[in-house]
Amino acid sequence: MEITYFEEERVFQIQTPNTTYLCGIAGKDWLGHIYYGKRMEDHRAGYLMRTEEAPFTPEVNLREKASFLELFPMEYSTWGIGDFREDCLKVRTEQGYSACELHYVSHWIFDGKPELPGLPATFEGSVEKHMQPGADTSASPESCRENGKCQTLEILCRDEILKLDVILSYSVFDDTDAIARSVRIENHSQEALYLDRVYSVCLDMEDKEYEMLTLAGAWARERHMERRPLAHGRQGVASGRGESSHQEHPFLALLGKHTTQEAGEVYGMHFVYSGNFTAQAEKTQYDHVRMTMGINPEGFCWKLAPEETFQTPEVILVYSDCGLDGMTHEFHRLYRNHLIRSPWLHQKRPVLLNNWEATYFNFDAEKIFEIAREAKRLGIEMLVLDDGWFGERDTDDCSLGDWQVNEKKLPGGLTALADRITGLGMKFGLWFEPEMVSPKSRLYEAHPDWAIQIPGRPATQGRAQYVLDLSRQEIVDYVYEAVASVLRSAEISYVKWDMNRHLTDLSSYGLSGERQGELSHRYMLGVYQLQERLLQEFPNLLLENCSSGGARFDPGMLYYSPQIWCSDDTDAMERLAIQEGTALLYPLSCIGAHVSDCPNHVTGRVVPFETRGHVALAGTFGYELDVTRISEEEQNQIPGQVELYHKYNDLVREGDYYRIASAGDNHLYDCWQVTSQDRRRSLVTYIQVRARPNYHSRTIMLKGLDKDAVYELEGTGKRYSGELLMRAGLLVPEMKGDYVSVLYSLVQV
Ligand code: DGJ
Repeated sequence: MEITYFEEERVFQIQTPNTTYLCGIAGKDWLGHIYYGKRMEDHRAGYLMRTEEAPFTPEVNLREKASFLELFPMEYSTWGIGDFREDCLKVRTEQGYSACELHYVSHWIFDGKPELPGLPATFEGSVEKHMQPGADTSASPESCRENGKCQTLEILCRDEILKLDVILSYSVFDDTDAIARSVRIENHSQEALYLDRVYSVCLDMEDKEYEMLTLAGAWARERHMERRPLAHGRQGVASGRGESSHQEHPFLALLGKHTTQEAGEVYGMHFVYSGNFTAQAEKTQYDHVRMTMGINPEGFCWKLAPEETFQTPEVILVYSDCGLDGMTHEFHRLYRNHLIRSPWLHQKRPVLLNNWEATYFNFDAEKIFEIAREAKRLGIEMLVLDDGWFGERDTDDCSLGDWQVNEKKLPGGLTALADRITGLGMKFGLWFEPEMVSPKSRLYEAHPDWAIQIPGRPATQGRAQYVLDLSRQEIVDYVYEAVASVLRSAEISYVKWDMNRHLTDLSSYGLSGERQGELSHRYMLGVYQLQERLLQEFPNLLLENCSSGGARFDPGMLYYSPQIWCSDDTDAMERLAIQEGTALLYPLSCIGAHVSDCPNHVTGRVVPFETRGHVALAGTFGYELDVTRISEEEQNQIPGQVELYHKYNDLVREGDYYRIASAGDNHLYDCWQVTSQDRRRSLVTYIQVRARPNYHSRTIMLKGLDKDAVYELEGTGKRYSGELLMRAGLLVPEMKGDYVSVLYSLVQV
C-alpha cells in the first residue's frame, strides 16, 4: 500500500496490494481520472486522459472547451459548465446561479485516516482503540501516523469564482485492496451556497461491454442479485425512503461480460451510509462509463453558510480480477478489519431465542419465563424480548415512544424479568424502536410537533406510526435518555434496534424554509449520534440493527452494530437467495439468522428442522419460535444444533466465504463453503432445494483449500488432497426429498 505523487508527470498513484488507481493533472489544472484496475508499477499513463488529441484542453483550444468537457474523464464532475454526463456536485448561489468548475490546487499525502465527523466510516488501527469508552477518537492526520496501516491522499480543488474548496479524499489499507473515498466541501465565500447534489465518488472509464450487478428486493425478499447488460444512458439504483431500504441496496458493480464467480473483472462500489442514496452507471456517446454514488439528490439541498463544511459519507471501491469471489473477500476483509468496531466482532455471540414469531404481542412475564426456562434446558443462551413490552402495546397501533414497561404484562418491570432470566444463567436482550412515535402514545400527546410532518397537511402513517424528527437535538437527547434509562435499570446485554417505516412528509419544525432539504441527512446524523452515544455508555452491549427485517442492512449500520437482522423472512429456502446476496458484501458474522417455526409464518412452507438449522448457521444463529410448543422431535434437535454452532462458529465467523453454487442459477441446489484463514479447516453447506429423479451423486468443486494438504472428511475417515477437492471435486451422494441439507467438515491431517 502506498500513495505517491509523481511531480514530473503530475500523476497520483494509489497502490493497494493488488490494484492501482491513477488520477492526474491535465492542461493547466484539470483533475482527471487515468486508470483503475490490476496493479501496475508504471505510473506514466497520463496519455489515457486523451488531452494530446482534439479537442485538447481549454488552455490550448478554448473555442472547444465544451467538447473537452464532454469527453474528459473527470475525477469529480460538476454541473453547469458543459459536462452533460452525471454530475457529482451541483452548487447554487444566493442569486440562483448553478455552475461550478473545479481546478486542482494542491494535495496532501499522510499516514492514517481522519474520522468523518458524525458519520460512520472505515478506520485505521485496532478495534480496541476505537472502542475504548470515552477515548478521543477524533484522529487528526498527526495522531493517525502512529498506527501506520493506512494512508490517505487529499486533493484540494477549487472553484475560484464561488470560493468553494472541494477536497477529494482517498484512503488505502495495507491488508485489503479496498479504497475508501469521500469528499469535503468548504465554503470560503462571504455568501451562503446551496448544495443541490454532492456525491461521494465519480469513476470514469472506457466501457468493455460491462454488465451491471445490483441487489434488489422487497420486504421478506431483500438483496437478490440482479445482473443486466449496461445500456447507453443512465441506469442505477436509489432510495428516497430515508433508509437504505429493502427495495434497493447502496451497492453497484460493473462486471465484465464473461466475469464469473471465480474469474474476470469486477468494479464494486458500496456506500457507508444508511439513508437516501443513488448509485449510477452511465454509458456515454463515446462508449465511456461513469460510475457515481452518493446521497440521493432528490429532495436534498444543503445550505452551506460562509466558512461551513459539508462532509459526504464514504464510498468503498473494490476492483477485482478474480471474479465475484475476489470482490467479496475484499469487502469482507475491510469490514472486519476496518469498519465493525464492536468488541463482539471476534466473539461468539450467545445463541438467542427471540420471542417475536413465538408470541408476537401475546405474552406476559410467565409466558416469557416459561419459554426461557425451556430454552435454557435445550442449550439456548439468551432470551430476547421483542416488541410489546412497553406502554399499552398489545397491537402495533400504539405506544411507540412510551418506553416505560407495561407492568400489567410484566409485573415488577424489566428488572424483575431480567433477574429471573439471568437467574437461569441466561442473558437477557430487549427490542426498541427508538426512532418512532405512535399517534396513540403519551409522547405524541405531549409533543405532536416532534413527528416529522408538513404543517397543515395530515402526515402519512406507516404501520400506524410517525417518525420522530431526529434532526432536532432536543429530540435526540430525549430519545437517548428514554432508551439509556431502561438499559441502566436492568441487566440487559443485547438490544435489537428496529425501524419500521419510511420517511415521508419531509419537514422539520427545527429547520428554516431554505434548510428543509437537509432533513433526511440530518435525520441520519441523529440516528448515528444516538447509536454512538449508546455504545459509549454501554461499550459491551451487543447491538443488532433491524428495519422491518433487512431494510437498513448497510455498511453504515455495521459501524455501530456487529450484526444486522437480515430479513423477516425466516423461511430457510427464501433465505438462500437473501443470504447469498447479503454475503456477497458482508461477512457471515453480520448476518442475523434464526431457526423459526413451520409452516413458515411468511411463506407457509415446511422445511426440515435440520435444514433450517444449517441455513441459520451461516449467520449469527438463534431461534425465533416457541420452544414449549414445537414437537418433541424438533425440541430434541436443538441441543445438537447449538453444539454445531459452538463447534463451527469460530470458522464461520472468521473464515473466508466462498460461493460454490447458487440455487438461483441452477434451481436445484445451493452450496457455500467457509475456510479458515490458515486453510486447515473448512465447512461446506449443501442444500438440495429440489430433488432430481433418476440422478446420481453430484460433483461440487471446492475452493480456498491448500492444494498440497490432505483433508479428512469428518466422520467418514475419507481423505482427499486439497488439489482433488478443488480441481476434481467432492461427490455429494444422492439425497431423497426437497429442502434437505448436509454439512461437510474438512480438517487438514
Ligand atoms: C420488525 C422486525 O423485523 C421483527 O423482527 C420484529 O421485531 C417486529 N418488527 C416487531 O414489531
